[in-house]
Amino acid sequence: MARLRTINFLQKLILSLILISDCPVWNYDGSSTYQAEGSNSDMYLHPVAIYRDPFRRGKNKLVLCEVYKYNKTPAETNKRQSCKKAMDKARDVHPWFGIEQEYTLLDSTKYPFGWPKNGFPGPQGPYYCGVGATKVFGRDVVEAHYRACLYAGIKIAGCNAEVMPAQWEFQVGPCEGIDMGDQLWIARYILDRVAEDFGVVVTYDPKPMTGDWNGAGAHTNYSTKEMREPGGIKAIEEAIKKLGKQHARHIKAYDPKGGEDNKRRLTGHHETSSIEDFSAGVANRGASIRIPRQVAEDGMGYLEDRRPASNCDPYSVTEVIIVTTVLEE
Ligand SMILES: *[C@@H]1O[C@H](CO)[C@@H](O)[C@H](O)[C@H]1NC(C)=O
Repeated sequence: MARLRTINFLQKLILSLILISDCPVWNYDGSSTYQAEGSNSDMYLHPVAIYRDPFRRGKNKLVLCEVYKYNKTPAETNKRQSCKKAMDKARDVHPWFGIEQEYTLLDSTKYPFGWPKNGFPGPQGPYYCGVGATKVFGRDVVEAHYRACLYAGIKIAGCNAEVMPAQWEFQVGPCEGIDMGDQLWIARYILDRVAEDFGVVVTYDPKPMTGDWNGAGAHTNYSTKEMREPGGIKAIEEAIKKLGKQHARHIKAYDPKGGEDNKRRLTGHHETSSIEDFSAGVANRGASIRIPRQVAEDGMGYLEDRRPASNCDPYSVTEVIIVTTVLEE
């Protein structure tokens, strides 16, 4: 009996230790997702990262995959492959990222969750980091998502109610290199699944409501080893100089429509910079790049790129940051 129990225990342990290299390449019907023609429809799934499955639990896993076409080239939506190449080249600078994912909960009619039907809540002000049933909508969803991420092994580091009611944010990081994009995508997947259980939907649209309502971004904290060491502020300033010369390139990479989505959000109002201009400043939430006050005082740390839209692909964002600040002279 004792031996049987030991064997059972060992079996469970081994199953919980499944590695990404144990997962086979798989495929799916790309014509159903408008990624391929019906006559040549197989798309390949290449497993790249593995997480504990917070929904089925036990020995179950969530496996993140890259998608390749029949001819073994990356699918159009596979932004990971080129990001991974850049991250491998920049390995020695140990790039760290942290992303603040803002999003909005919508009800089944696609109207912000908890807003009065056919109307609007009171103006912005009491909602940010708020508490109480008239100020926050959907905290049960947010808390369930948080716990599910912790279970999965996501480096989720915080969450808060945002400026617009029904808008929330969670933070993931610090993550090194390719891990940033991997973890954020899994955290988004888990959020969509959790929201489904509550009968609400998540929109990552960067400006879900027009008018005097804040948009949603994906503020990205970034540092290299050099920036994190004493005197690192010099490296931070050099990186900002390089970022300033490539503003247009970055705007193109910071939402899925090459800047069109972000145009609705980056207006120069509602704690954003204008999409047209590059700016940087200490503690300035109206700048493209913010140097946190603590970083200026310590003379080292990280910078915050406030431009990425909430619906950005984190692989594209982290890749272009590395290309501009590290890989190009
Ligand atoms: C980014 O830095 C700010 C402080 O400047 C911090 O409040 C926030 O939690 C950080 N976010 C992430 C995801 O690391």
